[in-house]
Amino acid sequence: MTTTPASTTPAQITENVMRSFDACPDPRLRELLTELVRRLHGFAVDLRLTETEWAAAIRFLTATGQKCDGTRQEFILLSDVLGLSMVVDAVNHERGGQATENTVLGPFYVEGMPDLPLGANIARPGDGEPAHISGRVRAPSGTPIAGAVVDVWQNADNGLYSVQDSDQALDNLRGRFTTDAEGRYEFWAVRPTDYAIPYDGPVGQLLVATGRHPWRPAHVHMIASAPGFDTVTTHVFDDQSKYLDSDAVFGVKESLVRTFQPHEPTEAPASAPETARSDRWWSLEFDFVLQPS
Ligand code: BEZ
Ligand code: FE
Repeated sequence: MTTTPASTTPAQITENVMRSFDACPDPRLRELLTELVRRLHGFAVDLRLTETEWAAAIRFLTATGQKCDGTRQEFILLSDVLGLSMVVDAVNHERGGQATENTVLGPFYVEGMPDLPLGANIARPGDGEPAHISGRVRAPSGTPIAGAVVDVWQNADNGLYSVQDSDQALDNLRGRFTTDAEGRYEFWAVRPTDYAIPYDGPVGQLLVATGRHPWRPAHVHMIASAPGFDTVTTHVFDDQSKYLDSDAVFGVKESLVRTFQPHEPTEAPASAPETARSDRWWSLEFDFVLQPS
């Protein structure tokens, strides 16, 4: 019969807890928990974590859970500001060559938004400066991918997504577009603006306590998918944003940064929304290269 050695030193405690998972029937769960314990205990030992600090951490995690509800996910926000979301994304989507890179999904995606015809306008007058966004979806060989779905969402120039703003319909600044025979997509939206992630909760307090800001550089979210290819969840970033080097959630990748080109109203095509025919508007091109799955 084996007996558990007395748990006196931190090393013995760590060993005992790790061994408590030896009989775990799921090998992956065993590996994850064993390594979590090794690293967590190592953190407490190496940094000589005090009881006051430990109690503060428990209070912080409790508040983080209490802030969550049907639309607010404070734990995802915590994962985002600690860069963990981007690390998990990076280890799961190593894309070589020219394949379009992923970035963070964020908490404001809504599934099941309307399928819209190419060229449709997803913005209302007053949501921001009109922007025509277009591009192609293709395979690494250059072959256009017809029938790919590009699912887009963005914030209005008040800094809010529709899910955060009772003045916007849920489907405002959102839509799904299907590429044509040449793999092309296009739609009218607004030029995105920088905005702050929600900072009225524990994650915001963490940012304040550490001297960090809550801002994200202006971007438009897009998810491109097609049968037989890896889905790409990404953003296109505005190269004029002052937060490209200090994104609160570490989502910027150089390959995703583009320039919005300015246009006069006289250059607006007949199919442009009224807002672009009466005022300055912008255009932006962003091509996707999808990796075969
Ligand atoms: C977003 O881009 O929508 C987002 C991403 C991470 C945290 C908060 C917002
Ligand atoms: Fe966003």
